[in-house]
Amino acid sequence: MSVEGLKLVNVAPNLNKPSTSTAPSNKTTNNANTSTSAIPSATSAPSNSKVKSDYVENSHASNVEAHTSNKTTNNLSSELNSMTVTGKSGNSKIDNKEKIPSRVEYKPEKWMLVDQTNDRLTQLNLAIVGHVDSGKSTLSGRLLHLLGQISQKQMHKYEKEAKLQGKGSFAYAWALDESAEERERGITMTVAVAYFNSNKYHVVILDSPGHKDFVPNMISGATQADAAILVIDASLGAFEAGIASAGGQTREHAQLIRSFGVDQIIVSVNKMDAVQYSKDRFDTIKLQLGTFLRSCNFRDSNVSWVPLSAMENQNLVGPASDARFSWYKGPSLLEAIDAFQPPAREYSKPLLMPICDVIKLPSQGQVSACGKLEAGALRNGSKVLVLPSGDVGTVRSLERDSLPCSVARAGDNVAVSLQGVDASSVMSGGVLCHPDFPVAVSDRLELKILVLDVQTPILIGSQLEFHIHHAKEVAKVAKIVSLLDPKTGKVTKKSPRCLLAKQSAIVEVVLQGEVCVDEFSSSRALGRVFLRSSGTTVAVGVVTRVITAERN
Ligand code: GTP
Ligand code: MG
Repeated sequence: MSVEGLKLVNVAPNLNKPSTSTAPSNKTTNNANTSTSAIPSATSAPSNSKVKSDYVENSHASNVEAHTSNKTTNNLSSELNSMTVTGKSGNSKIDNKEKIPSRVEYKPEKWMLVDQTNDRLTQLNLAIVGHVDSGKSTLSGRLLHLLGQISQKQMHKYEKEAKLQGKGSFAYAWALDESAEERERGITMTVAVAYFNSNKYHVVILDSPGHKDFVPNMISGATQADAAILVIDASLGAFEAGIASAGGQTREHAQLIRSFGVDQIIVSVNKMDAVQYSKDRFDTIKLQLGTFLRSCNFRDSNVSWVPLSAMENQNLVGPASDARFSWYKGPSLLEAIDAFQPPAREYSKPLLMPICDVIKLPSQGQVSACGKLEAGALRNGSKVLVLPSGDVGTVRSLERDSLPCSVARAGDNVAVSLQGVDASSVMSGGVLCHPDFPVAVSDRLELKILVLDVQTPILIGSQLEFHIHHAKEVAKVAKIVSLLDPKTGKVTKKSPRCLLAKQSAIVEVVLQGEVCVDEFSSSRALGRVFLRSSGTTVAVGVVTRVITAERN
C-alpha cells in the first residue's frame, strides 16, 4: 500500500503549529512509492517552470480524445449519473458478510451526534482544482491573505523571497507551494491544506496540483471534498489548453471530482485582467465549458460562475473595483462559497476514517493518523481498530486545524494521536474504524466501471493503477464479467473480450496488495475507485462486491 500525502500549510498567524511539531512531511513521497510505471516519477518533469506549459501540452501521450458528438456526451453523462446514484451490480453477496455486524445495526452514542446548540461553523472541505498554471495557488493564497490568515509581514516575506528567485508573480502561490522544488518549478506537486472562515463555513482549502504528473495527489485531496472551485485561466489559448481533449486537466479534474460525488462547484474564471475583463470572453468560456460540465452530470443550478482576477484582487471577497468589470453583477467568490449547500454528514454511522497521512515521533513513541472522518465520531479514550493491520488502539488526543479538540465528527479533518498500537501498523491508505464494525480488507474486487475516452482497449490481463481513497495498488483485470447498457445498466453482453472507450462494464480485478474497501452502496468513501494508466485516468467506478476479504 502506498502513501498519498497532503501538507498542512502553516499560514494562519493566529494558530499554533501542530503540537506534534512535525507537520505531515511526506510531501513528495507519493509517486516514489508507485509500484507501477504508469505514472512518471515526480522528477521526470522538467524543473524549469518556463517550459512547464509546453511540456504539459507536448508530452501528453494521452489516451483521452474528444467527445465528438452530443450522443457520446449524453452517454457519458447518464453513465456517470448511474455510477453516482447506485453501485449495485445485482450480484453483491459478500463472502464473509456474516462475520461483520451490519453497519446499519449500529447505534451511535449521544455524544457522537451533533450538538445543535453548538455554534461552531459547519466545516466545508473545498478542493481547488483546474488545469496547470490556472492560478489555483495564487487564488488560494490571495483569499487566505484577504481573510487574515496570512499576516502582512509574512506576505512581505513571500514577495521578497519570490522576487529574489525571479518568481515575483508567484508570491501568493508561495503560501501554498512550500517546498523548494515546488517553488523552483513554479508548480504545485502535493495538495496543500489551509483554512479560513466565511460567514457560514469553516472552509478547509485543498489546493490541488494541476500538472498531469500529479493527478494521483489531486485525487487524494479531492476525495475529501464536499465542494470544489474549478479554476479556469481566461487568457487566450490557456482556457483552450485546459479543455483540450488531449490532456486538458480542466476536463480530467471536472470528471474526477464529479465521480467522487462532488456535485456543487464554483467555476472561477481567473486571470480576467489578462483579457481586459472582457464579458465576451467570459461568456464564450461559460458557454463552452457549461456544455462539458453538463456532460459530466453537473446540474446547471449547482454550478456558479464567478469571473475574477486573483492577481489584481478583483471580485474575490467583495465587488470588483476595476471599471472594465462593471458588467458583472453576480456574487464575489466568497459570497459564492457561502451559497454552497451544507454537506450531508454520516454522523450516526460507525467510525470510518481513511488515513491520508501518518505523523510519527519515534523518540516519544507517538504516532498520529491524519485524515477526514467520513462517518461517526471520535473522542479522547475512544477505541479504534487500525486496518489493514488489525491493531486496536486508544485515542490519546485529537487535533483539528492544529489545535487540540475533544470530539471530532464526520466531516472533520483531524490528526488522531494513538496509543497502544505499533507505529508501523498505522499507514497512509489504511483506515481507522469502530472495533465492532470493521471494513473489509481485500485484494480481489468486483467493480462497475465506466471507461473514459481511452484509445487503448482494456483487456483481460491489463495492468492498471488502482486508486481507492488514499490507497494505490497495481491491479490486474482478471475477468470482464459483462458489458452494461449505458442507459439502463442492464447486461448487454457476457464475457466480452475487451472494453473500449465509453463502455460500461462489470469487471473483476486482482490487486497486488490488499486495500481497505467497502461496497459503494454502503460506503461511498470506501467504494469509489479510479483506474489509471500512462498518467491518465482511464476509468472511474464503484465497488460492487468484495470477493475475498480477510479479517485481521
Ligand atoms: P499548479 O498548481 O502548478 O497547477 O498552478 P496553479 O494553478 O496553482 O497556478 P499558480 O497560482 O502557481 O499561478 C501560475 C501563474 O499564473 C503565476 O505566474 C501567477 O502569477 C499567474 N496568475 C495567477 N492568477 C493570475 C491572475 O489573476 N492574473 C494573471 N495575469 N496572472 C495570474
Ligand atoms: Mg498551485
